[in-house]
Amino acid sequence: MILKKYKIFDKIIILRYPKPTDVQDMMNMINSLVKEGADIAKSKPVTIQEEKLWLRNSIMSIKNKEKVIILAEMNGVCVGSCEITRDNYDVSRHVGTLGIGLVKSARGIGIGTTLIKTALAEAKKRLGLRLVKLYVFDTNNIGKNIYTEMGFSEIGRIPKGIYHNKKYKDDIIMVKSL
Ligand SMILES: CC(C)(COP(=O)(O)OP(=O)(O)OC[C@H]1O[C@@H](n2cnc3c(N)ncnc32)[C@H](O)[C@@H]1OP(=O)(O)O)[C@@H](O)C(=O)NCCC(=O)NCCS
Repeated sequence: MILKKYKIFDKIIILRYPKPTDVQDMMNMINSLVKEGADIAKSKPVTIQEEKLWLRNSIMSIKNKEKVIILAEMNGVCVGSCEITRDNYDVSRHVGTLGIGLVKSARGIGIGTTLIKTALAEAKKRLGLRLVKLYVFDTNNIGKNIYTEMGFSEIGRIPKGIYHNKKYKDDIIMVKSL
């Protein structure tokens, strides 16, 4: 299902839910972020088998209203995704956790902002979430800025909660009400 289609410069951008045939593109996407040493929660490349299993389970979770994943396509190639996953505990089923990543060549032209907005709207509409939280490394200035602009506020930090690229970093927790 296509949620949004628009043009930036000469690029056609499509935002949509993922399908099983996206597996190779999605693996390439996450592995390019890992290779770059981006400030994300993964630091080891994933295999195609792992990605297939993850995508199969994720599509099931989307159908069961436990998750939304919005993919960004640029000129027909998947270049990024944003996911929000409902908490598992009985007492926090109204809360979701957000994650986002875009390949380098697709950054800085507003796709991240549009992806987050669309994922938040879907999480509210489809999952009925009331609160979204996320974790961002203290070193990730672009990430912190975009989240603040989207209405997230820092509510805590775990000092040295991250060991990434041979350095300890603070893990910042941000939340936004929907
Ligand atoms: C964080 C990320 C999702 C942002 O997406 P994006 O599409 O590049 O961001 P946008 O183009 O929508 O820009 C959002 C804001 O960040 C600013 N920004 C984007 N790239 C920037 C850069 N290289 N330097 C400075 N500011 C930048 C923009 O100016 C914009 O601010 P504005 O609205 O005041 O102009 C993307 O950079 C990314 O995937 N990074 C690597 C993975 C990552 O860090 N994920 C988050 C983990 S918590």
